[in-house]
Amino acid sequence: MEQLKGLILSGGKGTRLRPITHTSAKQLVPVANKPVLFYGIEALAQAGIDQIGVIIAPETGDEIRSAAGDGSAFHVHLHYIVQEQPLGLAHAVLTAQEFLSDSPFVMYLGDNLLQGGIVELVNSFRAQQPHALILLTPVSDPSSYGIAEIDSGSPSDARDVGGGADLPAGPCVSRRVVRLVEKPQDPQSDLALVGVYMFSSAIHHAARAIRPSRRGELEITDAIQHMVDSRLDVRAQIVEGWWKDTGRVQDMLEANRLVLDNLSARVEGQLVDSTVEGRVVIEEHASLHHVTVRGPAIIGAHAVLRDCYIGPYTAVGERCTVVRAEVEHSILLQGASVCELDGRIESSLLGRNVTVGRGAQQPKAYRLLVGDNSQISIP
Ligand code: G1P
Repeated sequence: MEQLKGLILSGGKGTRLRPITHTSAKQLVPVANKPVLFYGIEALAQAGIDQIGVIIAPETGDEIRSAAGDGSAFHVHLHYIVQEQPLGLAHAVLTAQEFLSDSPFVMYLGDNLLQGGIVELVNSFRAQQPHALILLTPVSDPSSYGIAEIDSGSPSDARDVGGGADLPAGPCVSRRVVRLVEKPQDPQSDLALVGVYMFSSAIHHAARAIRPSRRGELEITDAIQHMVDSRLDVRAQIVEGWWKDTGRVQDMLEANRLVLDNLSARVEGQLVDSTVEGRVVIEEHASLHHVTVRGPAIIGAHAVLRDCYIGPYTAVGERCTVVRAEVEHSILLQGASVCELDGRIESSLLGRNVTVGRGAQQPKAYRLLVGDNSQISIP
């Protein structure tokens, strides 16, 4: 098979993660202190793909470029491609046509996280050489996703296309796709399209043939349906392990929890009179005085923590400050500070340089300076 390229989608407006995404791209929101986009680049690199196009939006493109650079930090080459307007995933493919040329490619949505990486999936795409291979996982709310119906008959494996090794039964078994619908009102299956797709160059014709959906986008789901209608070989595999689309705050916290669960402990910062329990990473130049950290948790570089408790599933970003406070199951972006609180901060996402604390002024009252679409809940 011709060499595979990669295409990471890192545009879009991130409306569901506002207000965080008023000032920052959704793909740069950190999971366990690493931008979610970097997990995608690493997954492609691990699968041996080193030419990667990165679709960016005019509004957040510069920020993405300066975070990911030319790709050398990941041992890949990144090529930035501006999509002037968020007109859909199939539109992004058309925008990248010059970069992709006739190569087969893996398309990866930049706000998605896949626990097991994509090495096995890419290998089975290479072995089977279908026109498209999509990944599916059962979900409880199918009308929020692209949904696929698959052939419940015998699995189609490498022998069907006369090449490749025999595939074992199990996760690598692929099934023929019968029908796909984007966010169906009356779902006929609970198998959602995960944000990783493998395509031959046949996708370009399909993307040009479809019309915009009700939300005004050229849907990749419709383009794949067009391939099915054209009797091309479209297959699906069920993903093993967890998958997360980090588009909403709850998903972000959940992704953070899942990634922290696989952390290997490492202490590089300075601990004075402090206790660290379980899997905890303390990055360099972080300083902890009289602190209890109960893992899994990560404390970013140059963070300053005093007289506080950091509970499980918390990611404290670079240069954060936590003083006489308790934080659990939360993400603090870089420079955020939480000081002098009676209660505990829980299930929260604090943006960059946000401060939460008790003021000294009288009368006792809440004084807030809060961005658009923020949510505050006070007991
Ligand atoms: C997009 C796709 C959808 C897919 C989902 C996975 O949805 O259109 O088919 O299931 O990504 O994250 P969107 O995030 O644009 O709502």
